[in-house]
Amino acid sequence: MIKFDDVSKQFPLGNIALKNVSFEINDNEFVFLVGPSGAGKTTIVKLILRQFTPTSGRVTINEHDVSQKTFKHVEELRRDIGVVFQDFKVLPDKNTFENIALSLKVLGLRQRQIIAEIKEALRLVGLSGKDNVFPAQLSAGELQRVAIARAIVGSRDIILADEPTGNLDPKTAWEIMKIFKKLEGEKTIIFATHNTDIVNSLKKRVLVLNEGGLVKDVKKGGYEV
Ligand SMILES: Nc1ncnc2c1ncn2[C@@H]1O[C@H](COP(=O)(O)OP(=O)(O)O)[C@@H](O)[C@H]1O
Ligand SMILES: [Mg+2]
Repeated sequence: MIKFDDVSKQFPLGNIALKNVSFEINDNEFVFLVGPSGAGKTTIVKLILRQFTPTSGRVTINEHDVSQKTFKHVEELRRDIGVVFQDFKVLPDKNTFENIALSLKVLGLRQRQIIAEIKEALRLVGLSGKDNVFPAQLSAGELQRVAIARAIVGSRDIILADEPTGNLDPKTAWEIMKIFKKLEGEKTIIFATHNTDIVNSLKKRVLVLNEGGLVKDVKKGGYEV
């Protein structure tokens, strides 16, 4: 479970990224996080990853209060969380297999397990057989598939996707969306996006942010700009 209790985040120079935000996301729930640029979406992602701590309020992930400066289990927390970014963040000098394997390194798995997990993840994202291909030979959509495979291996419970379709054309964006739909019900997914077409067609829960405030939390929502 992911829980924000009255969370605010203010930066040293005074700009406020989040104002008194509260919500709860259950295990295996799928949630869209929407709102204009600067609304606070990435700040929520970073608070969950504990790249930020809140200025006030509490962030709880799977019963652990991660908002305290004294929280000591950041590595363990991040082992449970896969992240997909807008700009893929795939390493150019590593092939598909190596890029995905990097996120399994910290788990101390045996080589045989690593190979099996990667094979299964590549099948799920539709990249079977592309193990040895380097990023320069992949399209934007394929790069994002590699990034999703990297985010899901290692039996992670939570997937944070921060505008994962932001650099993709509409058709490719939908193909990527379909992969997330396949994961639905198996993982907690927080999908930050501007893509109103996708949000409006899928009728999932939508958290709407505006200027750091949570202005709407709709069960089977749509999203108007
Ligand atoms: N590290 C930072 N230092 C200062 N201000 C920041 C930092 N990160 C984000 N902000 C500010 O917080 C607000 C919310 O940003 P962000 O969460 O990135 O929004 P979004 O992802 O919805 O576009 C913006 O005004 C942004 O400039
Ligand atoms: Mg952002």
